[in-house]
Amino acid sequence: SKGNYRHYMLKEIFEQPDVISAALEGRLSDSSVLVESFGPDAQALFQSTRQVHIIACGTSYHAGLVARYWLERYAGVPVQVEVASEYRYRHPVVPEGTLFVTLSQSGETADTLAALRFAKTLSYIGSLAICNVPGSSLVRESDMSLMTRAGPEIGVASTKAFTTQLVALMLLTLSVSKAKGQPEQQDIVTALGALPALCQQVLVLDSQIETLSQAFAEKHHALFLGRGAHYPIALEGALKLKEISYIHAEAYPAGELKHGPLALVDSEMPVISVAPNDDLLEKLKSNLQEVRARGGQLFVFADERVGISEQDDVRVLTLPHVHEALAPLLYTLPLQLLSYHVAVLKGTDVDQPRNLAKSVTVE
Ligand code: F6R
Repeated sequence: SKGNYRHYMLKEIFEQPDVISAALEGRLSDSSVLVESFGPDAQALFQSTRQVHIIACGTSYHAGLVARYWLERYAGVPVQVEVASEYRYRHPVVPEGTLFVTLSQSGETADTLAALRFAKTLSYIGSLAICNVPGSSLVRESDMSLMTRAGPEIGVASTKAFTTQLVALMLLTLSVSKAKGQPEQQDIVTALGALPALCQQVLVLDSQIETLSQAFAEKHHALFLGRGAHYPIALEGALKLKEISYIHAEAYPAGELKHGPLALVDSEMPVISVAPNDDLLEKLKSNLQEVRARGGQLFVFADERVGISEQDDVRVLTLPHVHEALAPLLYTLPLQLLSYHVAVLKGTDVDQPRNLAKSVTVE
């Protein structure tokens, strides 16, 4: 049931602190990830993993894109990420020691399942499914699986399934690193433990985000910008807005602006940006100046320590400081809430957007 919430989507957004806790439960010790969470064969398999191929669709694909930044930076393992519908018709080259990973909320997405079946004919060292539905086809047919424990997701637009996938992917990153004998990333383990409470703090911003959403209700287009691991978060923000409010939205890595999309920016174009306090911040700030100079309206979700100040053409929403590695997770929440409130203002069917199905079991 929806309880006191007006829509399943809102309820599911607010469940995130709890389901993120559930996704971590029993999978960390005080200072370390428990590799065996991925099953008895995980230690040996991760130890021999020399690269990773990640395959998924839609929102799950965006989680895979974040994982590429994580696995390369924190586990030193090269990663390719691709949408299942493209991968399954390519002739992929599989280097020695490649692990095949699928991401899926439902575990029944036709393209992802077909990609797994195809991958089994290639020379991967093994397959891992990160999935929300125990006993689903994807889980049954993979060598190993890790459940995301988000609970049933009713709203068609994926929210808590995405953030719990990200938790699972950070556990994967830490596990691959540990299995390969690399130094423990204790600071990330500690930060994971603190994540549910931080998410709770972000959800308190709901009414401020609702106010912000009024600026979007009459708009026909929106541009989302991010850099590094926040580029996929911008992609996910744009997908959410498209899906449930039917506003055309695009996402770009902020550094690509001047290579084309800047031509779209005028006073009618809202530009949404995530600005965590990371080493790309200064570059992002100068990208944002480029937008302001063209009269664009800026909406910035920023770390409390960043010091981007509110002005006539810049609205700033401040988020609590979070470990840099986990910022993509935290910054997803305000973007979910933003698209939710815009859709409510527009009067669309939030939980059942037109033309979409929760589980895409046909090609
Ligand atoms: C977007 C959304 C879809 C799914 C995609 C894959 O909000 O829900 O893009 O993410 O259809 O579905 P799963 O994860 O079940 O394979």
